[in-house]
Order: sequence, then structure tokens, then C-alpha cells
Amino acid sequence: MKKNIKIAPSLLAANFALLKEEVVAVEDAGAEYLHLDVMDGHFVPNISFGASLIKSIRPYSNLIFDVHLMIDNPDRYISDFVDAGANIICVHAESTKHLNRTIQLIKSYNVKVGVALNPSTPLEAIKYDIDNIDMVLIMTVNPGFGGQKFIPQMLNKIKKLRTIAPNIDIQVDGGINNEISKLVINAGANILVAGSYIFNGNYKEKINSLKS
Ligand code: DX5
Ligand code: ZN
Repeated sequence: MKKNIKIAPSLLAANFALLKEEVVAVEDAGAEYLHLDVMDGHFVPNISFGASLIKSIRPYSNLIFDVHLMIDNPDRYISDFVDAGANIICVHAESTKHLNRTIQLIKSYNVKVGVALNPSTPLEAIKYDIDNIDMVLIMTVNPGFGGQKFIPQMLNKIKKLRTIAPNIDIQVDGGINNEISKLVINAGANILVAGSYIFNGNYKEKINSLKS
């Protein structure tokens, strides 16, 4: 079954001085998700924002809030992100000692659960959990920064995952533009995160170009 393509603009590339306007603008431009990159300066070599910022923009958007946690020991903060209004919480398989426990914790709050895999992490890392998760995030760059170059070897990973899990949501994140989007969609991805590509230009045109 072919899935509809959904677009998740990454707020990391927005103008932080105008966050409310930016959030409203990407919704008006046709996005379905808002991708929120939380970085702790430990799991990744960068610090971004946390639950309080997400909570402050939640009243201005009906988008699906898709929280990408790039933090060590995420269990400590799951309830904060639920309170902030997350609809999907995505944790890195590499960030938690007990991935299955983290998945169960997220599900206990009745939000959707995603698991992200760094470029070097094989699909085997989620072999025994795949039936319990809603989304797999295939990182197509090393996490931590926007504006990096897509790693082409990830296309095979996406294809393999689509064969293993025909119905799961496959999200891709990092270096996505209107050229790469064709490749990842053909490989089987159905949720496309894009930061610098969308926010440097006309949001509606950029979002449409990713879908077509
Ligand atoms: C990287 C983040 C991405 C990032 C994508 O660690 O997870 O979501 O914002 O930015 P672009 O689309 O510019 O590669
Ligand atoms: Zn991300």
C-alpha cells in the first residue's frame, strides 16, 4: 500500500525571534507535522530548546507536534514533553539503555511513539520492538545540526525497512530537499522532515515541491 506523503518542517531552521508567526506560516503553507528538535549538548554536540518552548507555541498550532529527542536518558523527561503537547515522541535507540522500557513509558501516556536510528545504527536495533512503535526515524545525517548533507547509503536502509514493515511510518530527517525527496519517497519513506530547505524560501512552494 502506498502511503500519503506528509511534510514535517523542522523548527530548528525557523527565525527564533518570530516563532509564533513561523509556526502559523508553515501550517498555512500545507505542512502536516511540526518537527521539534530537542538537543541536550550530551547526546549530540549542540543545545536547542526544551519542553517549555514547545508548550508556549502549542496554543498557536493544530499541527501534529512531532518531538525528536536527541537527549541522553530520555525517560526522565517524557512526561514534560507530554505536558507540553507532544503528539509523537521519538527517542534515539542509542540514547536509552532499555529501549523497550522507554517505548512502554511513552505509550503509557497515550501519545505516539517513534524510534530514531543514527546513520551507523543497523535496523537490527529495533528488531524486537518494531511491532510496538508507530514510526521509525531514519536519520539521513548525523544528528545535531541543520543544513548537513544527505548520506546516500541511507536509501538502502529505508528500502530494507519498508520491506520488513510495509505499514509503519518511515520518517527521514537531514539534508532533505526537492531532489533527495524523490529518492527517499521511492525508497519507501512517507514523512519528510526538512529544515533549511523549507525555511530558506517560500514555504508553500517548498512544501509542495517536496510532495510532488
Ligand atoms: C538534525 C535534526 C534535523 C534538522 C534537519 O539533528 O534532527 O531535524 O533540523 O535540518 P535540515 O533539513 O536543514 O538538514
Ligand atoms: Zn530532527
